[in-house]
Amino acid sequence: MTPSKTALWTRFQQQYFEHPELGLALDLSRVDFPDTFLARMERPIQRALIAMAELEKGGIANPDERRMVGHYWLRNPGLAPTATLSAEIRRTVTEIHEFAAAVHSGTIAGTGGSFQNLLVIGIGGSALGPQFVARALGHPATDRLKPWFFDNTDPDGMDRVLAELAGQLDRTICVVISKSGGTPETRNGMLEARAAYTKAGLAFSKHAVAVTGVGSALDKEALSGAWIRRFPMWDWVGGRTSETSAVGLLPAALQGLNIDGLLEGAGRCDEVTRRTDTHRNPAAQLALMWYFLGEGRGSKDMVVLPYKDRLELFAKYLQQLVMESLGKELDLDGRIVNAGIAVYGNKGSTDQHAYVQQLREGVLNFFVTFIEVLSDRSGPSIEVEPGVTSGDFLNGFLLGTRSALHENGRQSITLTVRDASPFTVGVLIALFERAVGLYASLVNINAYHQPGVEAGKKAAASVLALQSLAAAHLAAHPERSFSAADLASAIGRAEEAETVFKILTHLRANQRGIASTGTGTSALFHQAAPASTS
Ligand code: PA5
Repeated sequence: MTPSKTALWTRFQQQYFEHPELGLALDLSRVDFPDTFLARMERPIQRALIAMAELEKGGIANPDERRMVGHYWLRNPGLAPTATLSAEIRRTVTEIHEFAAAVHSGTIAGTGGSFQNLLVIGIGGSALGPQFVARALGHPATDRLKPWFFDNTDPDGMDRVLAELAGQLDRTICVVISKSGGTPETRNGMLEARAAYTKAGLAFSKHAVAVTGVGSALDKEALSGAWIRRFPMWDWVGGRTSETSAVGLLPAALQGLNIDGLLEGAGRCDEVTRRTDTHRNPAAQLALMWYFLGEGRGSKDMVVLPYKDRLELFAKYLQQLVMESLGKELDLDGRIVNAGIAVYGNKGSTDQHAYVQQLREGVLNFFVTFIEVLSDRSGPSIEVEPGVTSGDFLNGFLLGTRSALHENGRQSITLTVRDASPFTVGVLIALFERAVGLYASLVNINAYHQPGVEAGKKAAASVLALQSLAAAHLAAHPERSFSAADLASAIGRAEEAETVFKILTHLRANQRGIASTGTGTSALFHQAAPASTS
């Protein structure tokens, strides 16, 4: 039975927590946890807070990779375990400021004059944070450089960006970001960008900057190629928690965004979310709600609905932060747990005209995290109806959907923030980073490695090795035709017939010197004259 409005108001008063120092409020009233839940979880959450304190002191928090986990030091360098690390963090922020100022003033310029565009090349944790922040805080009227992204190895995707930059590459600075410095998608993006510069008669090196681990393949490339500059990425910062390192700060500073505000928001949120009083710690509360709603095993998906266009990419950013961190097969004791929380979302009220229908009435396999932004816009609003603005509508749709969902037994958390400022974006990033870390402790998993991602990278490498073998065999026998199965056998990989078939159909579709007769899986493939790739 739906509780009465009076009962809901009573619960709201009990479960609404304001943090004026962060411009943040957390409403847990639409999560139907019983009174006993928090008491029962007090010991586990205290253990999680202790583990987090150890992590912040520099303990080995990523046991598989034997690494420290230090993203919290980025906003408070004094907390880093050594004076050398503190100094490096501070120096990097200063250098980012100085570099961005030199770019903005034209002291550092492209071959065609002062830089106007910023092309960021990276993927995963080396792209999602910069993309989220660029969209959340950028504005065409105030951006110092216009941001663009290569975040994939999709040739057509890159061509579309390059078409936007046609004739402007000489005033485009490329920031190539890869912690490992060896990620194929990012390397390909760099090579494609470099080819575009070369085709335009320009030296890529005079427009390129690297953010990467010292000594990585990318670092060596940037050093030997005399790129404009290299910024460090430390092994104790994970990709998906790297927004407050040079990975996020450099692109943001180049775009002209207030990175000090971002760092301050994240740092203040860190202070609040270190509290051991669970009721006063919004990250602990979030982690506990996730645990309750998903029964500690991710049985409910998290739908993230910010009612603000600027925060549109937050769901995508959180999807990686949460799912790459929590989606683990084994727990820390080696038991199979298949942990995780699925995350998706986009923005309200737009999504009300898409999948919210199913949320209201369909399969109940989710909970919602609403994000309410109090400030509508920087200036005054017109009235779209007497006494009512567009922003009032947005607010009305949020409240309406929240209550319509709850009436139908759909639970939600609501986060309210003051605005979509650098400070607030820093708060949101730090809040979810810590909630993820605490939840990981509650379910006893390592949030800081990504063995599944590594497995995908290895599998892709073996597909490309198979492609080389298959193509070489066809080239060596130009007079013969092969079915995929015959070709797989001929190269000694009979069990890979399906992959060989998929490789050949891809090469054929792209005029890569493969033709065929017949259709379907029994098609016969043979060598054909390759189309020019220049
Ligand atoms: O969060 C992570 O660790 C990953 O998503 C990485 O950021 C991603 O794989 C890119 O790695 P790199 O920065 O080494 O190119």
